Amino acid sequence: MMFTKTLAAFASLGALASALPTAIKSRDTNSTSASTGGGVTIVNNMDQTIYLWSVSNTADSEMVTLTAGGQDYSENWRLNPDGGGISIKMSTTPDQSDVLQYEYTLVEPTIYWDLSCINMGGNSTFTTAGFAVTSNDSGNCPSATCKPGDTACADAYLFPTDDQATHGCPDTVSMTLNLGPSSAE
Ligand SMILES: *[C@@H]1O[C@H](CO)[C@@H](O)[C@H](O)[C@H]1NC(C)=O
Ligand SMILES: *[C@@H]1O[C@H](CO)[C@@H](O)[C@H](O)[C@H]1NC(C)=O
Ligand SMILES: *[C@@H]1O[C@H](CO)[C@@H](O)[C@H](O)[C@H]1NC(C)=O
Repeated sequence: MMFTKTLAAFASLGALASALPTAIKSRDTNSTSASTGGGVTIVNNMDQTIYLWSVSNTADSEMVTLTAGGQDYSENWRLNPDGGGISIKMSTTPDQSDVLQYEYTLVEPTIYWDLSCINMGGNSTFTTAGFAVTSNDSGNCPSATCKPGDTACADAYLFPTDDQATHGCPDTVSMTLNLGPSSAE
C-alpha cells in the first residue's frame, strides 16, 4: 500500500465544522482543503479537557482545546502540500509528548486513515477511557474500536508494522472519532 506511516506524520488545518453549537473549526486559512465533502469529527466524551493539533509539514498548527463532556472538532479532508498525510494529535495535556493520533492521507477517491498509539504511553488516559472511529458509510468503510483498558488494541497502530490498522474508505465519508465512554457502547 502506498500509504506509509511516515507520510501520515504531518498535517495542516482547515475548514468545515459540524453543525453542533460546541463545534470548533480549524483556523488555518492557508491549508489546502479538499472538496470531496468528507472529513472527520473528534468528540471529547471524556471527563477531562483534551488538547488537539492538526499537524502538517507546513503551517504551525494551533492548539485546539476541547472541554469535557462532548465538545467536538471537525475538519474537512485536507491535502498536505508535501504530498504526505495529516496527523491530528490528541493529548490530555497541553503538549505533544504523549499523543493519540488520527492520521489520514487523501488519495482521491480514497481516504486512507488509521489510529496510532505509537506516540502514546501504554498507560494513557485514552486507553483507560477507550476510543472508536465510526462513519456514515459503514458498508464501504471499516470502523475501529479500542475498548476501555485494551492496551493491545488490534484496531490501532501499536508498532509501525501494524499495517492491518490502516483502512481505506471513499473520500466522501464523514468519520467520527469518539474519545471516551460512547466508544464503549
Ligand atoms: C498564509 O500565507 C501567506 C502568504 O504566503 C502568509 O503571509 C501567511 O503568514 C500565511 N498564514 C498562515 C496562518 O500560515
Ligand atoms: C500506570 O500508571 C500507574 C499509576 O501511575 C503505575 O502504577 C503503573 O505502573 C503504570 N503502568 C504502566 C504499564 O505504565
Ligand atoms: C456522509 O456524509 C457526507 C458529508 O455530509 C456526505 O457528503 C456523504 O454523502 C455521506 N455518505 C453517505 C454514504 O451517506
